[in-house]
Amino acid sequence: MAVITCIEDLRRLAVKRVPRMFYDYADSGSWTESTYRANESDFGKIELRQRVAVNIETRSLATKLVGIDAAMPVALAPTGLTGMQHADGEILAARAAEKFGVPFTLSTMSICSIEDIAESSKKPFWFQLYVMRDRDFVGSLIDRAKAARCSALMLTLDLQIIGQRHKDIINGLSAPPRLTLANILNMTTKPRWCLGMLGTRRHTFRNIVGHAKGVGDMSSLMTWVGEQFDPRLSWADVEWIKKRWGGKLILKGIMDAEDARLAADSGADALIVSNHGGRQLDGAPSSIRALPPIAEAVGSRIEVWMDGGIRSGQDVLKAIALGAKGTLIGRSFLYGLGAMGEVGVTRALEIIRNELDLTMAFCGRTDIRTVDQSILMPERIA
Ligand code: GLV
Repeated sequence: MAVITCIEDLRRLAVKRVPRMFYDYADSGSWTESTYRANESDFGKIELRQRVAVNIETRSLATKLVGIDAAMPVALAPTGLTGMQHADGEILAARAAEKFGVPFTLSTMSICSIEDIAESSKKPFWFQLYVMRDRDFVGSLIDRAKAARCSALMLTLDLQIIGQRHKDIINGLSAPPRLTLANILNMTTKPRWCLGMLGTRRHTFRNIVGHAKGVGDMSSLMTWVGEQFDPRLSWADVEWIKKRWGGKLILKGIMDAEDARLAADSGADALIVSNHGGRQLDGAPSSIRALPPIAEAVGSRIEVWMDGGIRSGQDVLKAIALGAKGTLIGRSFLYGLGAMGEVGVTRALEIIRNELDLTMAFCGRTDIRTVDQSILMPERIA
C-alpha cells in the first residue's frame, strides 16, 4: 500500500483506480483550463509570515459556519457524479464528514439521493440546489431537503449554462457509463471500482430520475443541463427560494463585488466566492484573487467563504487570512474517495487538518478565529 502524505498522493492513487471518464470529469476545467490552473497556482504566490517564540501549545481550529459547529473551517463541496468516483460515493463521503465534524453538501447532480444520505447519516447534511425550468421540481427538491432535515441549502448561481470541458466530450461522459470499447477497456484496468459498482444499485442521478417529469433515463448530464437548467435565473428566484426553504441559505458562485453586495442584500446567510473549480468561465480570476475585494465589499453583512484550488491546509489558512470565514474542498476529497473510499475521504480531511494546524502555529497563532491578513507577508498578497 502506497504511503499517503499529501493530497497529491491521493490524486495519484485515484488516477489509477477510477475509470478515466469519471476521473477526467472531476479533474477538468473548461476550455483552456486557465482558471482551473490559476485556482491552484495563485495560492503558491501568497507568502506566510513565520513567527517564533510565541506559546503555541494549545491550538483550536474549531469554528462555526452559518452558525453550525465545524471542526475546522472546511466543508465538503457539492460535486456532481460523486457516486461514480466510487460506488455509493456520496454516502461514504457524508459518513467521513460526519465522523470528522465538518459539513457534507450533497449535489443535485449526485448519484445517491437526498433520501439515501438521510438514511445513512445521523447528523444533518447540506443540500445544493440548481434552478431548473420546472419550478415544481425545484420546489419538490427543496421539500425533500427539508424532509431529510438538511441544515442548510446551497444555491448555485453560476451553472445555468455549462462551460465546455473537452475531455467529457472525448470520453463520451454519461451515467451510467456508456459502454464504448474504449470505456470498457479502461474499466477492465479498474477491478476494485467495477466490483464496487456491481455491489450497488445506485448508478444514475437518483435525485432526478423517477422524480422529474418525463425523465426516465438520464444518461447525459450535459444534455440535462442544456434542456432543463433555467438561463432566466434572477435575484427574484433567489428571494422565492429563500422563502420556500425558510432555513440557512448559502449562495455559491459569486466572483464580483457588485454581485456580492446583491447577495448580502438578498438576506442569505453566506456567499461562496467560487468559479466552480475553473469549470465554467474560463478566463475568470482565481477564487483566491477574487476573494479580498469581495470580503471588503460586504464586510460583516454576510459570511464570505471561498472554494477553488484548495489542496492543502496552507491553502485553507491563506483563504482565511484573506477574509474567508470558511472554505469548501471538492477535488481534494474526491481524490481521497476515488483512491480509498470512505477511508480516503477521512485521510484527505486529516491531511488538511494537520497541515492547517501546524501552519497556523508556525505563523504564531493558536486560534483559527483570530487569523487575519497580518499572518501574510505584506506586499505579496495575490
Ligand atoms: C457540475 O456541477 C459540474 O461542474 O459539472
